[in-house]
Amino acid sequence: MKTSFIKNLGVIISIASLCSCNINNSTDRTIDDNLDFACEQTSLLLNDAEKAQKIPRTITADGHMHWTREGFDWTEGFFPGTCWYLFEYSNNAKWKKAADHFQEKYESHRLLPFYHDLGFVFNCSYGHAYRLTGEEAYKQVLIDAGNTLITRFNPQVGCIRSWDVDKGWQSKRGWQYPVIIDNMMNLEMLFELSNITGERKYADVAISHANVTMKNHFREDISSYHVIDYDSITGEVRNKHTAQGFAHESEWARGQAWGLYGYTICYRYTKDPKYLQLAEKIADYIMQHPALPADHIPYWDYDAPKVPNEPRDASAAAITASALIELNTYSQKDYMTEATTIINSLSSDNYLAKKGKNHHFILKHSVGSIPHNNEIDVPLNYADYYYVEALMRLRKNDDLFSQHLAESK
Ligand code: GLY
Repeated sequence: MKTSFIKNLGVIISIASLCSCNINNSTDRTIDDNLDFACEQTSLLLNDAEKAQKIPRTITADGHMHWTREGFDWTEGFFPGTCWYLFEYSNNAKWKKAADHFQEKYESHRLLPFYHDLGFVFNCSYGHAYRLTGEEAYKQVLIDAGNTLITRFNPQVGCIRSWDVDKGWQSKRGWQYPVIIDNMMNLEMLFELSNITGERKYADVAISHANVTMKNHFREDISSYHVIDYDSITGEVRNKHTAQGFAHESEWARGQAWGLYGYTICYRYTKDPKYLQLAEKIADYIMQHPALPADHIPYWDYDAPKVPNEPRDASAAAITASALIELNTYSQKDYMTEATTIINSLSSDNYLAKKGKNHHFILKHSVGSIPHNNEIDVPLNYADYYYVEALMRLRKNDDLFSQHLAESK
């Protein structure tokens, strides 16, 4: 819709080129106020991390810091990733030093073939390192991680396997080849690797994964299942389940956000309109959901049984906002209004911590996994990461818009 596109363009330019201006009229806080606060609060978190020599993840139910697991942790890339964004924002070398220091702690994990989360971990840290510095050493780490990740691709299924099923709680579910909607987030590193190496093999895996996921993960209303379990020999779907949602047929809020972000990325790299259309449908679905509260920060599952007395998930909101800001640059529809509504809510006292509180994380009120009784109504390092990313995207939006307009001419 051309009208809202043009109206929206005006909003974006005013937001992005005048970063001292308000996000909208409903708050006195500007994008830069929020990024300055992120720098102050994350400086305190960095002090804690330096003392412990560990990477912060969340807080425990009894209120202590919970660090990432040293053998491997799907969230280990987010704290260094936030440091990279703060380096990009502030140009203060302390953030680069911090990011380098903490990402080196897990650099060897790039060769571990047991986890699909290599894209999350390495793209969100080393990906920024390479983007911001162009240093070859970072690129090699990304290539190694990508080469490890694609060993988890099975051409019969057409997807990267998310979880191994020989141990842990996953071994008790009767799955053979589980693929989770979250896995869409690992594709960005693969697409990027094809760009930087000139080798098609990474993008080929990403495209196959995106296409098979598009076919099997979505219900008619465009909500998504969390886990699709495939037969690893025939590639047939065995089960459509959940792991972190309320029920197999419910809509786990972060899952919808991962899908939105994932297909927006697929469009960024391929310009295939079917990915744009799916991303738009997911966005419309989220924005129009009757269970979305007035502040647009979703409950952890849209079908959670005690809504409105259910925990919110600020992480799902931050991921959604960040994805919408990018989607807005590709779409003729207006997604910026929704993105700024979410960011305004996250930047209010309801969700944004006070300086020195919240164990020095930026955002309050996220959920890791309620079915696992894990990380309920807590800060999470990835909520902070995607919130800071969304703020950075708001700042840069005039560039993205100019690029998109130039390409579409
Ligand atoms: N990828 C795990 C999660 O979203 O909780």
